Formats: sequence, structure tokens, C-alpha cells
Amino acid sequence: MRTKRNKLPYAAALAWLSAVLMPLGGMGAANAGNIEAGKAAAAVCVACHQVDGGGMAPAGAEPWPALAGLDAGYIIKQLNDFKSGARKNVSMQPFAQMLNDQQVTDVAAYYASLPLPAREAPEADRELLAHGEKLALQGDWDRYIVRCVACHGPGNAGVGSDFPRLAGQLPEYLRRQLQAYRDGSRSNDPQDLMGSIARRMSDRDIEAVSLWLGSQPVQK
Ligand code: HEC
Ligand code: HEC
Repeated sequence: MRTKRNKLPYAAALAWLSAVLMPLGGMGAANAGNIEAGKAAAAVCVACHQVDGGGMAPAGAEPWPALAGLDAGYIIKQLNDFKSGARKNVSMQPFAQMLNDQQVTDVAAYYASLPLPAREAPEADRELLAHGEKLALQGDWDRYIVRCVACHGPGNAGVGSDFPRLAGQLPEYLRRQLQAYRDGSRSNDPQDLMGSIARRMSDRDIEAVSLWLGSQPVQK
């Protein structure tokens, strides 16, 4: 039932969460990276993440996410998590491990400086897209699926270093991350924020919201 009883504790919980997360805000903000040095260090990354940083989803294989325009602090956190093993992926971890701390900061500055390349919207039926849009913008209070914009910000364009941009990301990659949060194979999110949402999502929810977010233009 869509009642205030459901809504209020959630609003309160979110307010609490932002208070808890606030101190995390500065964490990724390290010293400014050098974009030119980052571009040089990224020479080995382009094989997968592509020259323009737009990523790619090869048919039937693991998707390589778009990195262009992601927040530098978020990129730094992910690279350090791959290095430490807090986030696991056999293709990605060796490349993170090749980078020293300065190079991590530099590649992050480089990718953050790139514009996200335009891409054709993924094909999907309208009903599925509408369901995805609803989850992203309104959530589903009956099932405690918090709307994505509550944390990922207006236009799902990302907020600071803690909440990454989702708009315009490859739907194949978004789907895989949501599945990974749901089955616990990705658990580097603070306070299980994503895990607790993903575990309430059905396959159809994941498919719908990934397609809708992937088809969104990036607003900054
Ligand atoms: C062999 C392919 C490959 C190469 C080369 C590669 N990556 Fe990745 N990268 C991946 C894959 C696959 C993922 C997604 C991993 C997952 O599913 O968790 C990823 C994820 C990432 C992420 C996380 C993005 C997000 O939205 O959370 C960052 C940041 C990243 N890579 C940076 C780099 C950098 C910097 C380099 C070069 C030093 C690099 N990658 C080289 C395959 C690659
Ligand atoms: C309560 C806050 C919160 C809400 C609501 C939320 N997220 Fe997240 N999400 C996060 C945080 C924090 C991270 C980054 C975790 C990390 O640092 O690794 C994240 C990361 C992600 C990622 C990984 C992105 C990447 O580049 O690897 C995906 C995909 C994602 N969220 C999808 C969603 C979707 C879809 C919704 C709505 C159904 C949603 N999130 C709602 C907090 C939230």
C-alpha cells in the first residue's frame, strides 16, 4: 500500500544516510591529478574502455564501462578497491594493480575530463522503458526500492565522489553491476546501500532500469 507509513521512515532513513555519508565526501578528493600524465598512463586502458572513454559492450562478452566524465574521486575509489580486492574482476584488477597512487589520481583526472560520447539509445519496448523510468524517478515504495535519483542525483548524473553517474552508461554494464550487488559478488558500496536495493529488484526491474538509464542523456 502506498501510505505515509511507508514513506516517512524512508525519508528519515535517507536523511540519516546522507548525514552518515557526508564525512565520506572528501575521501576521494585527493590532490589534483595531472590530465596529460593520466592520458599517457591510460594508454593500456583504451583496449577495453576505448579511446574516447565511452566503453563498449562486445556481443556475448563482459561489458567495458564508459569512464568518460565519471567523477575523479569515484574513479579513484574504484581503482583502489580493485587494487585491494574489495572489488573483484579478473579482467580489471591486473590493470588497476599496474598503477601507483599518483597514476591512479592522474588517470582519474584524465577520464573525468573527457565528455561522455553520444551513443544511440538502446532498443527496448516502451512498457519496459516506462517501468525503468518509474523505478529511477519514483522508486517502488511498496517494495522499498528507493528511487535512484534520491542518491544518484538529478538526471542520475551523479553526486560528488560517492554517487556515480548512471545516465548514459552502457545498459549491459549497469545490468551486470545490479546483478553483482544482488548476488553479493560486488560489495564495495558503503553501508550496503546498493546491495540492499538490488536485493529487492527482480530480473525485470534490473533490465528495465538499466535500459532506461542507459538511454538517458547526461545532464550536468
Ligand atoms: C581487459 C579489459 C580492461 C582493461 C585493459 C582495463 N579495464 Fe577497467 N574495467 C574492465 C571491466 C570488465 C570493468 C568492469 C568490472 C566489473 O564488472 O566490476 C572495468 C571497470 C573499470 C572501472 C570502474 C568503473 C565504474 O563505473 O565503476 C574503472 C574506474 C576502470 N575500469 C578503469 C580502468 C583504467 C584506468 C584502466 C587502465 C589503467 C583500465 N580500466 C583497463 C576492463 C578493463
Ligand atoms: C541510498 C543511496 C542509493 C540509492 C537510492 C541508489 N544507489 Fe546506486 N549507488 C549508491 C552508491 C553509494 C554507489 C557507489 C558504490 C561504490 O562506491 O562502489 C552506487 C552505485 C551504483 C551502481 C554502480 C555504478 C558503476 O559505475 O559501477 C549502479 C549500477 C547503481 N548504483 C544503480 C542504482 C539504481 C538502478 C538505483 C535505483 C533503483 C540506485 N542505484 C539507487 C547509492 C545508491
